[in-house]
Amino acid sequence: MSGPSAAPVIAIDGPTASGKGTIAAGVAKRLAFNYLDSGSLYRLVSLEAQVAGVELDDEPALIAIAGALRPEFVDGRIRLDGQDVSDQIREEGIGAAASRLAVLPGVRQALVDIQRRFRTSPGLVADGRDMGTAIFPDAKLKIFLTADVQSRAERRHKQLIEKGFSSNITGLSRVLRDRDNRDANRAVSPLRAAEDAIVIDSTHLSIEQTIEQVLGAWKAIAGGAVRG
Ligand code: CDP
Repeated sequence: MSGPSAAPVIAIDGPTASGKGTIAAGVAKRLAFNYLDSGSLYRLVSLEAQVAGVELDDEPALIAIAGALRPEFVDGRIRLDGQDVSDQIREEGIGAAASRLAVLPGVRQALVDIQRRFRTSPGLVADGRDMGTAIFPDAKLKIFLTADVQSRAERRHKQLIEKGFSSNITGLSRVLRDRDNRDANRAVSPLRAAEDAIVIDSTHLSIEQTIEQVLGAWKAIAGGAVRG
């Protein structure tokens, strides 16, 4: 559904480890909107491919996995085939493979409907790479969230350590740059700011300050109620 009565969407796109997930979840909570972490779908395909021993260049097999994906999102956790895989899909190896299979047009296409089904009343905050450009081009508010590579590497490092994974900052900066290049240079739905997106550089902003900037932009558009 994307007609005039469709639930409003706030699209938050940006490069890897820019804090999109934390900001998008925070904004969704304050507005009591639904939340879509689109990257988790690519990560789920990546995990399923690993479990099934499917190679990352086997597009037909990956499309079949993407098309059959039936994840359950409950209370901030993700279950697949009855198993909680929320932490497992955050592993860097799964993320790196997700970024490789995300270049495949057929895989992206197979994930379009599942993403659009998250658009329900009273509204949706969706985070990813192509929310404002491809999946929800009619989003009421489009944010492009960036931060410099060094601070993104530090944030990701902290996040991985907190989850009990091993991590090394120098290696991470290199991985993030590779990921940026792959996302920005793929033929289908490359990472770029939508023409009508508001760009927020969060390098020197706290999580709360960034959330406030997004909410400020939303209030200016929708004038809607925001929870304190
Ligand atoms: O955590 P990180 O920002 O690196 O990634 P993510 O948002 O969890 O997404 C994992 C991978 O899926 C990314 O590296 C992207 O290549 C890909 N992705 C995409 O192509 N399109 C999206 N809408 C979301 C993620």
